[in-house]
Amino acid sequence: MELPKHVAIIMDGNGRWAKERNRSRIEGHKEGIKTVKRIIEAAIENKIPYLTLFAFSSENWNRPEEEVTGLMQLLNQFLKNEAKTLEKHEVSLKTIGRIHELPKENYRAIQELVEATTDHNALTLTVALNYSSKNEIVDAVRSIVNQSLKNELDANKINYSTIAKNLETKELPDPDLIIRTSGEYRLSNFLLLQSAYAEIYISPIYWPDFNKHHFDTALEQYALRERRYGALK
Ligand code: FPP
Repeated sequence: MELPKHVAIIMDGNGRWAKERNRSRIEGHKEGIKTVKRIIEAAIENKIPYLTLFAFSSENWNRPEEEVTGLMQLLNQFLKNEAKTLEKHEVSLKTIGRIHELPKENYRAIQELVEATTDHNALTLTVALNYSSKNEIVDAVRSIVNQSLKNELDANKINYSTIAKNLETKELPDPDLIIRTSGEYRLSNFLLLQSAYAEIYISPIYWPDFNKHHFDTALEQYALRERRYGALK
């Protein structure tokens, strides 16, 4: 079976999962963390080299303060609790997004774990935090213009590879498969350029209920797709 090299996931539906059970949104996110652990395991078991998870978008700051604070606390717990697992399974942690704008405690915990796991090479786990694809493109444009002003590059020679090298994903292959849970058909400002030729798989399952079986189904569906990249068969 043809496996994707890079799977990127929009983990959606924690709030609706909680609402259906008369529980708080934070409890939905807590349950969502269990899924994060399961899916990291599933990626390792399937020998998928790159997994990217959309954990917090730049637009998520607009949620109630209680939810934002709760999510940041959950993130810190996750980083503390998972350090050993990342070590054991040789998982290297990376981030994309403006993480310097996160609460200091989160920022420090992330930096520490990224550094501690940098030499691991079974799975590259990238967590998108305070991420917006549009902001990422803005940052890339700024950086390219500055390089051009310093005569470090010739503006007439800018091509897509120049742009790709200035994106935060420069060390990652483009995603082959984007999974979105909870039945929403949107990319929501996630890896817009990088997913130009990604296969998109929408699962109706809420993220807290998404399990290894659902993940395997997404992989099986991916294997059935015919990728043409704009050419003929
Ligand atoms: C979408 O559900 C989910 C989020 C905005 C947060 C996802 C975060 C986690 C699963 C936990 C933190 C992650 C890591 C990697 C530690 P929603 O709240 O938009 O659900 P709704 O659309 O049903 O309201």
